[in-house]
Amino acid sequence: MDRKFKVLVGAAMVVLFAAIMFQAGYAQKKPPESLMLKLNGAKFPPVPFTHFLHTEKAKVGCVRCHHGDEDPKEPGGCMPCHDRNDVKSGAPPIKDAYHKNCIDCHKESVAKKINAPTKCNECHKK
Ligand code: HEC
Ligand code: HEC
Ligand code: HEC
Ligand code: HEC
Repeated sequence: MDRKFKVLVGAAMVVLFAAIMFQAGYAQKKPPESLMLKLNGAKFPPVPFTHFLHTEKAKVGCVRCHHGDEDPKEPGGCMPCHDRNDVKSGAPPIKDAYHKNCIDCHKESVAKKINAPTKCNECHKK
């Protein structure tokens, strides 16, 4: 192979690599903007949850909540692993998982003087 050809092949590979990275970056699943979290048969009012506020404003990484997913860029819900009532393969029931995930961090935030809901009716808003 002459030198010119090698350079050409090299350049083509760089372009291809960049294209793949670009694709991968945009393939990340967009989180739903706002959700109302409500479990089956819930007795308390549903809990509003805003991704943007958590991921952009509070700079919380996806895996802090979507910790179980094989590909953290393609997260699903929590329910495939966390059962409504029972411990399943070591995973605590979904209510306990939510309470631990959400309330623990909010308490840490409050300790740092950032206001975040920690009381029942601040999350389960009527
Ligand atoms: C930081 C937010 C937050 C706080 C504070 C919180 N919860 Fe929840 N709770 C949730 C989320 C999220 C769920 C799951 C979605 C839902 O409400 O069904 C949930 C689910 C539940 C459920 C199971 C579903 C139902 O409605 O029967 C109960 C019971 C419950 N919470 C009671 C409480 C009580 C009692 C308190 C106060 C001691 C409390 N929660 C404080 C976020 C919170
Ligand atoms: C503070 C916790 C938290 C953070 C941080 C977070 N999420 Fe979520 N996300 C949730 C909760 C809770 C749900 C609802 C899960 C359910 O309905 O079972 C959800 C749902 C989703 C869903 C819909 C899943 C489905 O198929 O139902 C996607 C996609 C998603 N999040 C992507 C992301 C991405 C990407 C990031 C990072 C940029 C992120 N999330 C950061 C808590 C979080
Ligand atoms: C692929 C399966 C899987 C998914 C999806 C998943 N979890 Fe879990 N989770 C587990 C398992 C297994 C455990 C117990 C072992 C451990 O602590 O890692 C657990 C434990 C937890 C704990 C307790 C950690 C502790 O220190 O006690 C919390 C809180 C939690 N999960 C929250 C969530 C939330 C919120 C979601 C959805 C946004 C979620 N999980 C999605 C499998 C999963
Ligand atoms: C790792 C930290 C962290 C986790 C985990 C987390 N939060 Fe938050 N949350 C925050 C912070 C920080 C704020 C305050 C943001 C601000 O106003 O700057 C906040 C604010 C909120 C608010 C008040 C603002 C609003 O949207 O009305 C709600 C409701 C809320 N979180 C719900 C939840 C729920 C439900 C979960 C669990 C699924 C959760 N959060 C998990 C850090 C967290």
